[in-house]
Amino acid sequence: MEPKCIKEQLMLQTGELCIDSPNKVTIVGVGQVGMACAFSIVQQGLASEVALVDVIADKIRGEMMDLQHGMAFMKKVKIIADTDYKVTSGSRICIVTAGARQKEGESRLNLVQRNVEIFKGIIPKLVRYSPDTILLIVSNPVDLLTYVAWKISGLPAHRVIGSGTNLDSARFRFLMGEKLGIAPSSCHGWIIGEHGDSSVPVWSGVNVAGTYLQKLNPKVGTPDDPEGWEKIHRDVVDSAYEIIRLKGYTSWAIGLSVATLVTALLRNQHNVFAVSTLVKGMYGTEDEVFISLPCSLGSLGIVHVLHQHLTEDEKAKLLNSIKILAALQKDLKLPNIAETVISSSWR
Ligand SMILES: NC(=O)c1ccc[n+]([C@@H]2O[C@H](COP(=O)([O-])OP(=O)(O)OC[C@H]3O[C@@H](n4cnc5c(N)ncnc54)[C@H](O)[C@@H]3O)[C@@H](O)[C@H]2O)c1
Repeated sequence: MEPKCIKEQLMLQTGELCIDSPNKVTIVGVGQVGMACAFSIVQQGLASEVALVDVIADKIRGEMMDLQHGMAFMKKVKIIADTDYKVTSGSRICIVTAGARQKEGESRLNLVQRNVEIFKGIIPKLVRYSPDTILLIVSNPVDLLTYVAWKISGLPAHRVIGSGTNLDSARFRFLMGEKLGIAPSSCHGWIIGEHGDSSVPVWSGVNVAGTYLQKLNPKVGTPDDPEGWEKIHRDVVDSAYEIIRLKGYTSWAIGLSVATLVTALLRNQHNVFAVSTLVKGMYGTEDEVFISLPCSLGSLGIVHVLHQHLTEDEKAKLLNSIKILAALQKDLKLPNIAETVISSSWR
């Protein structure tokens, strides 16, 4: 008789192995942002399984091994990686951070079009292997690409979410906290609209402990505010450019921001975040645009979009943000509807 191996001597199997992963999360694109998302998700023990996908086989294998080797210090999570989308099968959430970076002298629209081509390759495969998934888009320009992902995927709008201005709002709260000497988690302020230059700070709602800054200083956030609070929003808009100038990319804060969204989705938490969602019919807009508004997130995606009581000025700025995106969007070359339906009927 063959001697028993160590595993057999060590333990007796008395039950069936469960191979299902109830909380599987896929990350497409293992660049700086993808890996910051992966690290936050793994380190916080949010997912039971994390699948990494990229076009560079060596890179994903290296990233997978590096994360796996930290497992002794974290909650157990299965980490798998491949260039083949089969590895993503059965994901509850698919996070997309893949994308081309802007080339020198390249227009924003041209960059979007290049990323549309990349998304045409990615999105149908994700939906094919995980028909019930929630798509969480992070690649930039995030609002336009969330719209593109929605169009290509054929998924209902509440299951296609852009990371949006959740990060901008976090930056705002950090800067507000620095100015007041209060923790960012106790500083309440929302940035809505485009994740980018035309984002809208909702000064009418900025408060600490229910005390509204606008009541204390009616000029807060305006150019003639002697305290210069408006600079906080300018710093939010400039911060991505500044960090990219200093270190080449942004990563940690977006990784943490995405992990917070993943927590709410996986745990059905119904917390409210500023994320990019389809806003047609809201604030009187008829444009089919994805842009950030406060949304509650549950296990099936976006549950509610909250009606903020915006001032006329804030509303005008939000509508301007929508118009900017609608104008860019109309020039995009998307796959025709028939193509989209064919790819989504794989499900
Ligand atoms: N929404 C936000 O708040 C936010 C914040 C920071 C960065 N971003 C965006 O995230 C994206 C990624 O940034 P990064 O710094 O990680 O870039 P990066 O260049 O470091 O990584 C991009 C990764 O995508 C991969 N990739 C390219 N084409 C692919 C394809 N077809 N399929 C699978 N993978 C593919 C590349 O191999 C690379 O590993 C950019 O679009 C960036 O602007 C968004």
